[in-house]
Amino acid sequence: MFNLGILTISDKGSQGQRYDESGRVIRDRLSTAGNVVKYEIVPDERKVIAARLAEWADSGSLDVILTTGGTGLGLRDVTPEATLSILEKEVPGITEIIRIKTFSVTPLAILSRAVAGIRGQCLIINLPGSPKAVRECLEIVMPAIPHAVEILRGEVTEHTDTTKGQASAH
Ligand code: MTE
Repeated sequence: MFNLGILTISDKGSQGQRYDESGRVIRDRLSTAGNVVKYEIVPDERKVIAARLAEWADSGSLDVILTTGGTGLGLRDVTPEATLSILEKEVPGITEIIRIKTFSVTPLAILSRAVAGIRGQCLIINLPGSPKAVRECLEIVMPAIPHAVEILRGEVTEHTDTTKGQASAH
């Protein structure tokens, strides 16, 4: 099990004007793999988002933070900029494959500017805001998360071929 933080980014959600269905989808989908230790809804404010992500990552209590919302083209959509401002290293493949694979489900997938990366030992991944998008994107990234966590925790020193369950000596 890895320790998970869910940060929902929504002006309406943060004011109690909208039920956080997307946060619930993340919680449900990861219930067997991720232990949700932090959860919050914040408004689409760059400084607030960045501060919360940095605080959570630096707390040492989280392996993964999944954000949902604020990745689009709207005036208030600043989640990628807030995330990039606190990341130490980007992991672009995660959001690249999400956009490529889910493009066949909806061409609108390319309208998400989501980013992913690490800060300290914490993996941070932006997901789009709709529950449908969250379901589609999680399906793509979930298989890679446990191994990413093992690497960040320093638990694996060899490259692992997870398709065969074997470590190869590199
Ligand atoms: N990605 C997938 N897989 N499925 C979707 O339905 N919706 C898109 C896109 N990414 C979508 C998706 C739409 S319509 C938008 S506007 C952008 O994500 C940004 O969404 P956000 O601003 O709620 O983060």
